[in-house]
Amino acid sequence: MQKIKQSALLKTSSYINGQWHASDVTFTVSNPATNEVLAQVSDAGENDAKLAIQAAKKAFRAWADMAAHERAKLLRNWFNLMMEHQDDLARILTLEQGKPLAEAQGEIAYGAGFIEWFAEEGKRVYGDTIPSLSADQKILVIKQAVGVVAAITPWNFPNAMIARKAAAALAAGCTFVVRPAAQTPLSALAMAELAEQAGIPAGVFNVVVGQDARAIGEVFTTDTDVAKFTFTGSTAVGKSLIKQCASTVKKVSMELGGNAPFIVFNDADIAEAVKGAINSKYRNAGQTCVCTNRIFVQKEVLASFTEQFTSAVNNLHVGNGINDNIQIGPMISTEAVDNVAKLVEKSIQQGAILHAGGKRHQAGRNFFQPTILTQVTPDMPVARNEVFGPVSPIIAFESESDVIAMANDTEYGLAAYFYARDIGRVWRVAQALEYGMVGINEGLISNVAAPFGGVKQSGSGREGSKYGLDDYLAIKYLCMGGIKD
Ligand code: SIN
Repeated sequence: MQKIKQSALLKTSSYINGQWHASDVTFTVSNPATNEVLAQVSDAGENDAKLAIQAAKKAFRAWADMAAHERAKLLRNWFNLMMEHQDDLARILTLEQGKPLAEAQGEIAYGAGFIEWFAEEGKRVYGDTIPSLSADQKILVIKQAVGVVAAITPWNFPNAMIARKAAAALAAGCTFVVRPAAQTPLSALAMAELAEQAGIPAGVFNVVVGQDARAIGEVFTTDTDVAKFTFTGSTAVGKSLIKQCASTVKKVSMELGGNAPFIVFNDADIAEAVKGAINSKYRNAGQTCVCTNRIFVQKEVLASFTEQFTSAVNNLHVGNGINDNIQIGPMISTEAVDNVAKLVEKSIQQGAILHAGGKRHQAGRNFFQPTILTQVTPDMPVARNEVFGPVSPIIAFESESDVIAMANDTEYGLAAYFYARDIGRVWRVAQALEYGMVGINEGLISNVAAPFGGVKQSGSGREGSKYGLDDYLAIKYLCMGGIKD
């Protein structure tokens, strides 16, 4: 923390209506790599959540009525400040979340990129005119900001998951209240400080930091002044939040869990597939919703893929992400490590073979070795569950139809990946995979210009891209009569 150049970025209380709300009750934020205490943060609850919603409500009319070009200028200022302070923001992020510094730098640019993207996209909220059935009438369609947006965001992307939602909401003319994960509030508060420096008016962007996710979530999902609720996190929590939102019929978007298949066909470029699998599996120590969860390899190339992949995995450097040349940082908590260890152990008991790693890493109690399991079958715990850790289960397959059936045999439908060169196969498989996003000969697919989101129990709505604004807009139909004299 001492190396943070701009100390104003180190905030420790909620940001509501342009004010910092300190309280006597605090909670501890610690570094998952070392377990050192980083900060004591004021613990906000139900009342602060209500206050933030009221502030956002009060700010809404003026913000929604501002010309999109003017909102864009303020968002652009915010983007510029985030990039100007990229080093500090990345350091804060690595310290509280654990990901390697280079990855954190990437996340800041990714998060800021959404703000830049939506600053522009907000200028293009077009309506429609529709030929009417009667000469005396005109049918017009306009799109308007839905109102106050409440969001709950996860610890695995403490900056980008807020930016992806807030940028679209603010560009559309909505005001915004977010509760970031209690493990990673400092990145969110640094964003609020920069939003203020950028000139975003009081009440437009509010951050409520508190440990009691349930109480804050209850307010966000039931308050009649919230028009839209958006969540990134697990499917189990998402389902109960959707139920809570039903009581006031809120517009809802959900980015939930995944169980991404990564398929290597026998015509794949194996070296490229290995590179893609490393990127897609081990990014953020395997803790992303789009991380590869099951690697399917066609029998003819199983030996060569496994050999090259094992050598790449064994070369990954594990350690404190703040140090140089680290590719795998800690997991978020000891419980997260325990869960992964259990899934690995149970799968080995059921016949999986440990090919690499498999144990806690000596770097500290929150570290787990990059792991490969072979001879995995689709019913084993590492294949059925979202592992959310640095573990690669390899499953052999015979035919295209077999692997498609296995890949789709899950309640999830977020991201899928496959490597193949045959053009017919590429189309067939791309269409057959029941997923919202498919990487074809590509392991890293997240991009501000692309629609991020899932099908099935992985959620609803899209973030990023031109489609990302739709979730924050309501379509209004205007019927103009009395046209004829
Ligand atoms: C996530 O894990 O939910 C987000 C991953 C990404 O944006 O790439």
